[in-house]
Amino acid sequence: MRIATLTSGGDCPGLNAVIRGIVRTAAEYGSTVVGFEDGWQGLLEDRRVQLYDDDFIDRILSRGGTILGTGRLHPDDFKAGIEQIKANLEDAGIDCLIPIGGEGTLKGAKFLADNGIPVVGVPKTIDNDVNGTDYTFGFDTAVAVATDAIDRLHTTAESHDRVMIVEVMGRHVGWIALHAGMASGAHDILIPEHPFDIEEVCKKMARRFQLGEKYGIIVVAEGALPKEGTLEIADREVDQFGHEKFQDISGLIAKEIENRLDTEVRSTVLGHIQRGGTPTAFDRVLATRFAVNATKACLRGDFNKVVALKGQEIELIDFEEAVGTLKEVPDYRYATAQNLFG
Ligand code: F6P
Repeated sequence: MRIATLTSGGDCPGLNAVIRGIVRTAAEYGSTVVGFEDGWQGLLEDRRVQLYDDDFIDRILSRGGTILGTGRLHPDDFKAGIEQIKANLEDAGIDCLIPIGGEGTLKGAKFLADNGIPVVGVPKTIDNDVNGTDYTFGFDTAVAVATDAIDRLHTTAESHDRVMIVEVMGRHVGWIALHAGMASGAHDILIPEHPFDIEEVCKKMARRFQLGEKYGIIVVAEGALPKEGTLEIADREVDQFGHEKFQDISGLIAKEIENRLDTEVRSTVLGHIQRGGTPTAFDRVLATRFAVNATKACLRGDFNKVVALKGQEIELIDFEEAVGTLKEVPDYRYATAQNLFG
């Protein structure tokens, strides 16, 4: 069998571990693997590379980023290119494609499946927002990086009697903010699923100061928004892929707290540091298990599915379960964290 793979959308630690896992598993069963460069774009333009089960592939397990490169393609261009994609896959003699990506990529994979192309999807994202899987690889690494950063901010905040606002990634969901905030003992966590009231945020900090504390740490997801009518915020622009552009929510919150409370406030945006670098052991193992299971599904002809972590086990789920809705932080999880705020 001849398998193809590609990595699409924002990168994430663990992508190379998946590529390695696919190549090594395929080789074990006498199959070969082709990689398309830069996501869907490379598939459309037939930019392919043969991947060999050699020392190079073996050593990429712990390497961040993706050796295949990644990119984003507008869904309209993608759909318009379906015949070209089919022709390129046929020309390369591909029996099954394993696209690795987030919800947008999996939607694209479903479109290919609906058009008769055998695919098995592998979910990835540091945001952990793909539905149907308990975790995506990359998330654990992002949380570890953010937790380390927030631990560091605690000590400098404490030394200067300051409030620190830490902005982490999370376009639509607050998983990174929730986990990194809980792990680092943040005094407040603001996530997109629960619009915040700046008055309440300030009250919580003021209460903390009344109790004798002199500093505070607030973790905010980049996609967090104030409750309607509580804080003026400019309309968000949208980029060419339909993604909203964020406008320094941490800076805005910092300014408000400084204006309302007699305290010094600083903000830090962690940004792409959360996405770069070497994956944690957990992410390497999850990525590898996804790869092995996706490759074996291809080999036995179990197409048009997505690999997912359910409890301790890797299962195959339908595309319908993985795409369409994002996995948000449930209320009870946020409530658990809230008990510890202040
Ligand atoms: O991978 C998801 C994500 O990390 C979001 O949290 C973030 O908003 C986005 O990617 C930013 O990606 P880029 O800067 O590559 O557009």
